[in-house]
Order: sequence, then structure tokens, then C-alpha cells
Amino acid sequence: MIVTTKDLFRIAYGKFAVGAYNINNMEQCIGLFQGCTASQAPFIIQISKGARKYALVKMLEGLIRTAEELFPETIFAVHLDHGDEQTCYDCIDSGFYSSVMIDASHYPFDENVAITQRVVSRAHAKGISVEAELGMLGGVEEDIKVDEKHAMLTDPDDAARYVQLTGCDSLAVAIGTSHGAYKFKGRQSLHFERLAEIQARLPGFPLVMHGSSSVPQEEVLRINAAGGAMDPSARGVDEDEFATAVPLGVTKVNIDTDGRLVWTRVHREYFRDEPAKIDFRDPGKIFMAEYASFIAHKNEKLGSAGRLAEIRAALG
Ligand code: G3H
Ligand code: 13P
Ligand code: ZN
Repeated sequence: MIVTTKDLFRIAYGKFAVGAYNINNMEQCIGLFQGCTASQAPFIIQISKGARKYALVKMLEGLIRTAEELFPETIFAVHLDHGDEQTCYDCIDSGFYSSVMIDASHYPFDENVAITQRVVSRAHAKGISVEAELGMLGGVEEDIKVDEKHAMLTDPDDAARYVQLTGCDSLAVAIGTSHGAYKFKGRQSLHFERLAEIQARLPGFPLVMHGSSSVPQEEVLRINAAGGAMDPSARGVDEDEFATAVPLGVTKVNIDTDGRLVWTRVHREYFRDEPAKIDFRDPGKIFMAEYASFIAHKNEKLGSAGRLAEIRAALG
């Protein structure tokens, strides 16, 4: 069942975080629905501009609508990830999305506010909620590369002013994470002190953590052992830190890279071990099963596993 992102956030806030998973193809879609059914967790399907281009807008919509029918127990929202203004309008007008993200974080504050205000007014007129971003994560977001020097943690006073001015429904905050597989050098933690300051100025307001993949070292080692060439120093977010972030207002946690690692590991190992095979359905089957258990594991860490009965009751 597709629900509003707002409802999921209202139920989750302070208790658990909703996993927001990017999908690009049928195998990910099936694995995601299987993993969330097995772990009885609500979730958010995120679609990036790149995914809309790769898999075609209508094809993705068809996949998700069919999965909704095939997995009737599931409760989820559909979200545009890192939208620009025009893509937000396309999604709002499509009638398919529960929420959109307008990412104007690379613009100066006033311009970010003005763009976000326009998107909020078009979205709210149709009952769609809006995630916006203030501060800058490092790494690569779509076609924009932010180098580490220019990545900035979200300023708590600006965050409160920004939310008040824009009327957005949730805020992506920069608290030390970045997109992709190379987030940290050595062991580093999230900036919980900064998160606590933001929450103190925005009590009860849903905060979003982008760049939340954990980049398990074992995955990197297995990928490299099967012919990959990832930098072995790749590090991500310690997934045990989600439990600390939730009471500090983090209600949505974005995970994409870790799913890509599962895909890469499965396919590299399969073709290393079966060099004569050419049927992509063989590794595809393994990937769907592995992706489903990866999703179920993340949902346990986010505290969203086992929540479906509670959510059904809260939705009435
Ligand atoms: O933050 C970006 C997400 O990981 C989506 O990646 O733009 O390559 O689809 P993508
Ligand atoms: P990762 O690159 O850490 O998976 O982050 C994904 C993300 O933030 C999507 O918006
Ligand atoms: Zn992101």
C-alpha cells in the first residue's frame, strides 16, 4: 500500500527511522519488496533523476505498481531523490509520488529558500510533502561533485530559519556523511552534537540522513578478490549509530551504495566462478535473494523491522 511520507514520519519520529532505498531495476524492486515483507518493515522507495533516465519513468512506475499488487502486505511511500525544480514539478504533476526532494543545497541560502518555497507551494497544493537540504554533503550527488573542503555541516540556526521560511516537511542535514563508497578515512563518527543542536531548534521535525551506507569491508574485500579494484580504505557509516541518531530526530535514512556493493559482489563472484555461463538470470536470482536479506538486515538496524501491525493500527 502506498502511503504518504508524512504519515510514515508522524508514526516513526523518535522511535525508528524509515529506510529509503534507491531502485533502478526489476531485481532491486523485487528484492526490496521481499526484504521488507520478510522483516515486516515500512520503507520509502527513492527514485533519482538518473534512475528515471535509466529505467524510464513509466517503466519504474509500472514496476512499483505491480510490486504493490504482488506484495499486498507492504506499506511504503514513493519519493523523488535529489530533484531539481523541473523534475520536482514533473513528479508532483504525475500523481504517483508521495514526496519529492528539492535539492538546492548547492545554491546560496536565499536562492535555496526561493527555489524550495516554489516547490513547496506546488507540492502542498497536491498534498505531496517536500524534503529539502541545507548544508552540503561531500561526494557525488547526481552530476554535482562536492569536494570535501566545500562540504559543510548544517548550521542549526540557519536550519530553523530555513524550515520556517520554506515550509518544507523534512530536512536533509549534513552531519558528516557523504555519498558513495569513500566517506571516511579511518574510523570516524557522525556529528551527533550538531544533530542534537539542530533537533533542539526543530523539535519534532523529521530530519533526513543522506549518505548512510555502511560500506562493509567484507563486501569491498570480496569484490576485489573477484577482480574488482575498489580502494580498500573505503569506509561508511557505522550502522550501529542509527540507533543513536533516531532519538535525535533522524526519521529517514538514505541507502544506495551498499545495495550497489551487493550487486557488484554477486555478479563478480558468479562470473568468476562460472566463466562459461551467460544466462544473466542465474546471478539475477542470487542477487534478488541477497538484496532481500541485505534490506531486512538494514531494517533491523534502523528499528523499522516488525512495525507493520503498529503502522496499520496508527493509519486506522
Ligand atoms: O545520492 C544519490 C543516490 O545514491 C542516487 O544515485 O544519482 O547515481 O542514481 P544516482
Ligand atoms: P549512500 O551513497 O551512502 O548510499 O547514500 C545514498 C543517498 O544519500 C541517496 O540520496
Ligand atoms: Zn542523497
